[in-house]
Amino acid sequence: MSYLKTTKELYKAAAITPDVGLCCTTNPIWELPGLKIPKIMQQMNYGCGSTVHHRDLTGNPKILYVGVGGGMELLQFAYFSRQTNGVVGVDIVDEMLDASAKNLIEAELTNPWFKSDFVDLKKGDALSLPIADATIDVAAQNCLFNIFKTEELKKAISEMYRVLKPHGRLVMSDPTCEQEINATLRADQKLRAMCLSGSIPIKEYVKMLTDAGFGTIEIRARKPYRILDPKNYPTQELVYIESIEVAAIKDPMPVDGPCVFTGKTAIYYGEEDYYDDHNGHVLFPNQPLAICDKTAESLANLKREDLFISESTWHYDGGGCC
Ligand SMILES: C[S@@+](CC[C@H](N)C(=O)[O-])C[C@H]1O[C@@H](n2cnc3c(N)ncnc32)[C@H](O)[C@@H]1O
Repeated sequence: MSYLKTTKELYKAAAITPDVGLCCTTNPIWELPGLKIPKIMQQMNYGCGSTVHHRDLTGNPKILYVGVGGGMELLQFAYFSRQTNGVVGVDIVDEMLDASAKNLIEAELTNPWFKSDFVDLKKGDALSLPIADATIDVAAQNCLFNIFKTEELKKAISEMYRVLKPHGRLVMSDPTCEQEINATLRADQKLRAMCLSGSIPIKEYVKMLTDAGFGTIEIRARKPYRILDPKNYPTQELVYIESIEVAAIKDPMPVDGPCVFTGKTAIYYGEEDYYDDHNGHVLFPNQPLAICDKTAESLANLKREDLFISESTWHYDGGGCC
C-alpha cells in the first residue's frame, strides 16, 4: 500500500472514531472569553502544538488551514475572523471533512458568536491546493507536513508560498528530530502517517522554507514531543522527537540571506548612550533587542566586550521596547 493510502486510511479511522492521544502535546487546549471547545474537538486534537495566535490575526485576514482534523483550530481561527468563509479548511480525507463539519455545527451550540459558515471546508490536497494565487493572509498547518517525504514537503511548502499574499505568513506546528532516523523507521508508512518517523532537523526544515522564498522565519516554540525506544520501535537507540511552532513570512529575501529568529537577543552594556551597528540595529544600555541569527553572528564577530549575545531560546515572539 502506498504511504498516501496508509495516511488516508489512518485519518479516515481517526475521523470515524476519535483516536485520543494520536498526536497529543503539552500545549493546553486554550479557550478565550466566549470561546468553548466542544469535547469531541478536544478528543480529535491531532496537532502537536498551536498555530493560532492573535498577533498573526490583525487586519481582517483571510485564513487557510490545511489538514483540518476535528476542526478545533478552525474554530479558534474563526474566533478572530468572525465572517462567512473567513477561514478555509482543506483536507484530503472525506471522513475528516465530514467529522469537522459536524463538530463545527456542534460548536454553534456553545459559542453564540459562531456560525458554521464562518468556515469553508474544501476537499483538496496539500500538494495541489484548491486555492488561487496570492489570496491568503495567514496559512496554517499543524502536524501534517512531517508526514511528507522530501519532494512532497518541498511541494507542500511551495503551494503555501504560492497562495499567500506578499507579507502573508505560514504558521505551523510540526515534529522535528535532530538525530538520524534509521531507514526502517523512515520507511514505516504507519509510523510516518502517525507523525512519528518523518520528522527532520530544525535547520533542514528552515532551509526548505527559505529555499521556497520565505525571507523571515520565526521559531516560536520548541518542546519535547515523543520518544521512540528500542522495545516498541525498530530502533537500537532512543530517538527523541521534538515539536516546534514556526512562522514563515513571505517577506522579500534580504540580499544577505533570510532573517531566521530563534530567540537570540543582544544587550549592550557599554558606556555610550547607545550602540548602533549601522545595519538597522540600535541598542540602548541594558535593553534587550531580539535579533535574527545572521545579526547575532555578525555582532558576535565584532568581539566587543560591551555586547552580550544570548543563545537561541527557541522562543521568539517578536516585539521590542516601546
Ligand atoms: C495529524 S492530523 C492533524 C489535524 C489537525 N491539523 C490538528 O491539529 O488536529 C493530519 C490531517 O491532515 C490530513 N491530511 C493528510 N494528508 C493530507 C494531504 N495530502 N492534504 C491535505 N490534508 C491531508 C488528515 O486527514 C488529517 O486531518
